[in-house]
Amino acid sequence: MPNPSILILPGDGIGPEVMTEVRKIIDWYGVNRGLAFDVSEDLVGGAAYDVHGTPLTDETMAKAQEADAVLLGAVGGPKYDTLDFNEKPERGLLRLRKEMDLYANLRPAQCFDALADFSSLKPEIVGGLDIMIVRELTSGVYFGEPRGVFEEGNERVGVNTQRYTESEIARVARSAFELARKRDNKLCSMEKANVMESGVLWRDVVTEVHAAEYPDVELSHMYADAGAMQLTRWPKQFDVIVTDNLFGDLLSDLAAMLTGSLGMLPSASLGAPMANGRPKALYEPVHGSAPDIAGQGKANPIACILSFAMALRYSFDAGEDADRLEAAVEKVLADGLRTADLIGEEGRAPVSTSEMGDAIIAALDASVNAAA
Ligand code: IPM
Ligand code: MG
Repeated sequence: MPNPSILILPGDGIGPEVMTEVRKIIDWYGVNRGLAFDVSEDLVGGAAYDVHGTPLTDETMAKAQEADAVLLGAVGGPKYDTLDFNEKPERGLLRLRKEMDLYANLRPAQCFDALADFSSLKPEIVGGLDIMIVRELTSGVYFGEPRGVFEEGNERVGVNTQRYTESEIARVARSAFELARKRDNKLCSMEKANVMESGVLWRDVVTEVHAAEYPDVELSHMYADAGAMQLTRWPKQFDVIVTDNLFGDLLSDLAAMLTGSLGMLPSASLGAPMANGRPKALYEPVHGSAPDIAGQGKANPIACILSFAMALRYSFDAGEDADRLEAAVEKVLADGLRTADLIGEEGRAPVSTSEMGDAIIAALDASVNAAA
C-alpha cells in the first residue's frame, strides 16, 4: 500500500508560515507514530496568480482531486483587491470547494480552559464551550445563478441568488445529524424561513430527514439572526448547528471569536467518499491570510495545526493521534505560551510562530516518552 497522500497549498499571507509548522508536525507523526504521508506542495490564491495568472491551475485542481487530503493555509491580500472577480485569490478556494464537492464544512468552536479569560465574553459563558457548526459549502448565494452586476434602466444592479435544492439540504443535514449522534445528540438548524423561501425549504427538508432517519437526535430550529444572538448570550446551549453557506460563514466567525481568537480554530470540508473509502477532504484554518502580520513570525499556527488533527481524525482514521495533537496544544497553552493574538492587557511576551510549533512538538515528544 502506498502512503496516503497530502497536498499542501500554503497560499498567501500567513498561510506559508503557519504551514511550515504543520509540516514539522506531519514529519513528527511519520517518525514517531508510523504515520508516513506522501506530501506534495503547490500554489493557490494570490501566490498562484503571481506565477500562473490564475488563482488555481487545472493541474493543481487535478492534484487536489487525487489527494487523500488537501491542507490549505489561507488566500487573499490587498495586492489582489483590484483584480477581476474570477482572478481573485478567493476564487481558487471556492473552485476547490465546488469541484471537489465539499458540501459539509465542519467548524468546531472549542474554548481551551487556558484561554477562557481571553474571550471577550465572561469565562463562565465560554469556559468548556464545545460546539460544532456544520456549514453548507458548495451552494447557496456563493454559487447561485444569476449573479453579476447588470445595467437596468439608467443604473447598475448587483445580483446574487440564494438557491438550494432538496438534495443539497438533505445531504448536509445528514452530515450534521451523524455528527450530533457522536456528540451530545442535539442539532439546531438555522435559516431565515420567516423571509426566505429557500429557508422554508431548508426547514422542511431538515425536518423530513430528521423524522425519517434521525428521530433519536434532538432537533430544533432557529432563525439565523436569533441564532447569532443566542450564540453570544449562552453558547453552551448548542451542540451541533447546521446552516447554509452564507449564514455559516458569518456564524462561524462569531463562534470562533467566542473562544478568544480566530487563530485557534480549524475546519474540515468534506465531500462524498472516494473509491478508497476516504471522504474527499480539504482542511484549513478558519482565519484568513492576515496580510498585516504576514512574514513577521507573529501568526498563530494552532488553527492550522488543529486542522491537521482534523485530517487525522476524518481522513486517516487516526482519532487517537488527533487526540494526542489536541492534547499537546492544550498543554502548551496551559503552560502559558501565547502567540501575539492571544495576548490581551496582561502584556506578557509573545512567542513566535515557530516557537509555538516547536513547543507543540516538544509536548508531542513528551506524550510519547510518558507512554514509553
Ligand atoms: C471562509 C472565508 C471564505 C468564505 C473566503 C476566503 C472566500 O471567509 O472560509 O470563511 O467566505 O467562505
Ligand atoms: Mg469566513
